[in-house]
Order: sequence, then C-alpha cells, then structure tokens
Amino acid sequence: MKTIVKLAVAAAMALAAPAVALAQAWPNKPITVIVPFAAGGPTDVVARLIGEHMSRTLGQQLVVENVGGAGGSTGMTRVAQAAPDGYTLGVGNMGTQSAAPALYPNLKYDPATSFQQISILNYTPQIVVSKKALEASDLKSFLDFAKANHEKLSYGHAGVGSISHVSGLVFNSQLGFKPALVAYRGTAPALNDLVAGQIDYMVDQALNVIPQIKAGTIKAFAVAAPERLASLPDVPTTKEAGLDFIFSAWNAMVAPKGTPKEIVDKLIEAVNKALDDPTIQARYVELGSTAPKGADRGPAGLQKLVESEVARITPVIKAAGVTGN
Ligand code: MLT
Repeated sequence: MKTIVKLAVAAAMALAAPAVALAQAWPNKPITVIVPFAAGGPTDVVARLIGEHMSRTLGQQLVVENVGGAGGSTGMTRVAQAAPDGYTLGVGNMGTQSAAPALYPNLKYDPATSFQQISILNYTPQIVVSKKALEASDLKSFLDFAKANHEKLSYGHAGVGSISHVSGLVFNSQLGFKPALVAYRGTAPALNDLVAGQIDYMVDQALNVIPQIKAGTIKAFAVAAPERLASLPDVPTTKEAGLDFIFSAWNAMVAPKGTPKEIVDKLIEAVNKALDDPTIQARYVELGSTAPKGADRGPAGLQKLVESEVARITPVIKAAGVTGN
C-alpha cells in the first residue's frame, strides 16, 4: 500500500515538475500583451507605458498586439483562450471587463471568472468633447445646440461595449439625445475623425483627448469627474457646468486563468514597481489618470472592481435596450 502511495506522490510530482520549471524559468522569451483596441488609443497608451516599465523589471520585452473589434471583446476572448503560461497577457477596460456580458449574450468569456486578474492599471474620467467647428462654446451652449439638433449629430465610439459606447449611452439617454452612433475599432481612429470634423462629438477617456484639447483641435466641454483635472485646469467639471453626469473609466491587466502563481506574483510585483515609479506618476498626471492605491491594487482589488462594475453597468445597458450581437 505504502509503495502505491509513494508511486502516486512521485507521479504527481513528475506531472507538476514541468509547471514549476516553467514558472521558475519565466520569462525566457518576449511576452505578448493583447490590447483589444486600435493602437494609439487609451488602452494602448496605458498598456505600452506600464508594459515598457515591466519589460525592464522582468528582463524580457512585453510586446503589444492590437486586436480590435466587437468593442474589445474579440481581443479579450483571445486572452481568455490563450495558454496560461505567462506569455500572453491582456489589458482590458471597464467596457470589456464589465459592460460586455450585458451586451453580448454569446460572449465567450466571463470577466469575473475567465481570467487570472493581475491589477487595475489606472482610472481616468471621461470628458465630453466635440469637433472644433461645432456651434458651442461651453457645456450649456453644447446641450442647447444638441437639444435642437441631436438627430442630425453623430457620436463616435470604440465599438458596442467599449467605455466610449457605454458612457455615451448614459450621457445621451440622460439628455434624451439620439445621435447617429458611429463605431470604430478604438477611440484613436474615432478621435482622428473628430479632429477631421467627420463626426460631431464623443465622451472619451481623458487620456485620449487631452493632447488634442491642448492643441485646440477639438473642444472640451466638461470633465465627468467630481474635481477638475490638474492637466486641464480650465475645463469645468460636469457638476460645475450644471449636469449630473460622472463617469470614470479604468484599464486593467489580466492573464489567462490557470497562470501559475509564481508567474502571477512576479507580474504583480512588476506592475506595482511601475505604478510606484515617479516618472509614471508624472505621466499619469499629464494624462489625467490616477493609479490604484493600497488594496485596490493586485488581483483582489481588480476582482472586486469587476464584480461591482458588472452590477452597476448591467442595469444601465438593459434600460437602454441595446445589444452587441
Ligand atoms: C473605449 O472607449 O473603450 C476605449 O477608448 C477604447 C480604446 O482604447 O480605444
């Protein structure tokens, strides 16, 4: 009997050995980071900023691959289905990790159970912006203009289920606006069209629109946050401008479920090191972003946020009566 037990233990150890060896040797080749939106947009900017720092900590390149489509759910499906060996990671956002289940009945992942959560990477408020030529100078004149013309206006977003889509749903339904919705593979191409005057307005992440607001190529009407942003001191909050609309977005890193704990621990350490770096913190201020602190960091903080955001956003989407499929 003892011999059988010994053999069983030996067999289990032999099976576990390659996984342990894999985790110990990790990373010994470049790591792919799937960004489920177009290059140059907010998710991409955060993934590259943090990814570059993590590359230095881990001694291997984190290589971003942009896999856009279906409001980011195409790319996040790839992450959920990848081998859990630490060589494929994903950076999703409030849309892919909270709104998608309510919008896509056939979604192939569950943001709360299909991933190994790594960490929230940043929070960033949404900003109400329009093309430069729109006849409005502040939020009040924009709302007056849109009230009279909303059915002739176009609203750009990063695909059904993306943050720009969901925040637009809330904003437009709160005001009774019914613009034509124009979907892109990310808000980087949407913003290009806003600058070119091809679409009329957007509600998008501060970190995407701040450079264009500063360059004067688009108009900013209000920051959907309780406080003004240090990097945009002249843009009022929605509350100051008389509108009850607060919408904070976030981006987060995940790995496929089953990624070994040793690898997850190394990833968390590398993310924390990046978030604590003063140069990243200074860049976050420029980008109108803040880093998670304390218990909000790491897998538990992200899991809690995903669950609370799914509970918060699902009724909003159901009330708006939209689906992605
Ligand atoms: C979104 O609206 O979800 C994001 O802006 C997507 C992106 O990173 O382009």
